[in-house]
Amino acid sequence: MLLIAGARPNFMKVAPIYAEMKRRPCEFAPKIVHTGQHYDASMSDAFFDDLGMPKPDIHLGVGSASHAVQTAKIMTAFEPVVLEEKPDWVLVVGDVNSTIACALVCAKLGVRVAHVEAGLRSRDRSMPEEINRILTDSISDLLLTTSQDADENLKQEGIPAEKISFVGNVMIDSLMEHLKVAECSTVRKDLAVDDRDYAVLTLHRPSNVDDKDVFAGIIDALVDIAERLPIIFPVHPRTRAKIDEFGFGERIAGANLTLVEPLGYLDFLRLYSGARLVLTDSGGLQEETTVLGIPCLTLRHNTERPITIEIGTNVLVGTDPERIRRAANDALSCENNASAKKPPLWDGHAAGRICDVLLEKFSFA
Ligand code: UD1
Repeated sequence: MLLIAGARPNFMKVAPIYAEMKRRPCEFAPKIVHTGQHYDASMSDAFFDDLGMPKPDIHLGVGSASHAVQTAKIMTAFEPVVLEEKPDWVLVVGDVNSTIACALVCAKLGVRVAHVEAGLRSRDRSMPEEINRILTDSISDLLLTTSQDADENLKQEGIPAEKISFVGNVMIDSLMEHLKVAECSTVRKDLAVDDRDYAVLTLHRPSNVDDKDVFAGIIDALVDIAERLPIIFPVHPRTRAKIDEFGFGERIAGANLTLVEPLGYLDFLRLYSGARLVLTDSGGLQEETTVLGIPCLTLRHNTERPITIEIGTNVLVGTDPERIRRAANDALSCENNASAKKPPLWDGHAAGRICDVLLEKFSFA
């Protein structure tokens, strides 16, 4: 069994599955393949260390490029690995370019693919991830879902019910396992927010940071919100480059907005788990804040994770500065709710269920 880890949001999904398979050596022989989509130490190695994963068994070393070039390079590098390793199954997670690239190689070689986090749909095909989701699901043999709305999406697309299995959210396995150990992190103290309210911000979607006017509007809203409470902003490399290109550095420096390098898994968990408010365009953070009962404002017009709105703490606020300001005021006028309701099967045991389903499928292969 090959497990594909390519980009930052993959690592905390692969780690619990790998660990669970290692606990069942008579049944599984997992190997980790890192495509190299993310390669900076802060975007990759730090996560392997924090999550207790060994170095990847195979590293494709692909790196950054345009979507077509990156996807093609991953495919070209991965095909000989599949031919050499002859895996029974390849397991892909999430919706990044590494996910579709590796799934496509396997589909063409007749190797079975399991897709973890299948069936999520934003219905926004301008998002590269939405294309990756639809295509990966359509060629996977086993679709492992985090929520039942995803099952419905897949069935509506004509995917047979016997290929779909609702196993819950494996990223929450990582969160629950590391919440306690993350208490050793000194990140709150280092950023001088250990004894006060603060907000955490992440921003990296091309639709938010590549368009100068949209990005400028978001910064206007953030500067105002930061007058009420400090905002800590771990900056993704693509966002950092855009801040420099658009000359936004000075405007940010004048506000109560602290830019830091991307944080490792434990430091970031420690940081957002103590936040009064999270503002983000990430997918995973919408889910993590839901589980912890932290108000989350999603700076997007849609989400592929509607359950975080229905059951959780997430509010879609788009990118209009006035709407972001108003939503932040509303969120700050309510208390955080640590005992908030969690979506079904976001319980820390999804990796076990994933392995059980895979075993069941092995026996019927
Ligand atoms: C990718 C995923 C996105 C996910 C995000 C999390 C796709 C289509 N997108 O977006 O779904 O939310 O990861 O981070 O797969 N860069 C570095 N160092 C790195 C990695 C990237 O400097 O280690 C810079 C490069 O300039 C690169 C840019 O960031 O061109 C974008 O990286 P890329 O992997 O293409 O997409 P992300 O925006 O990270």
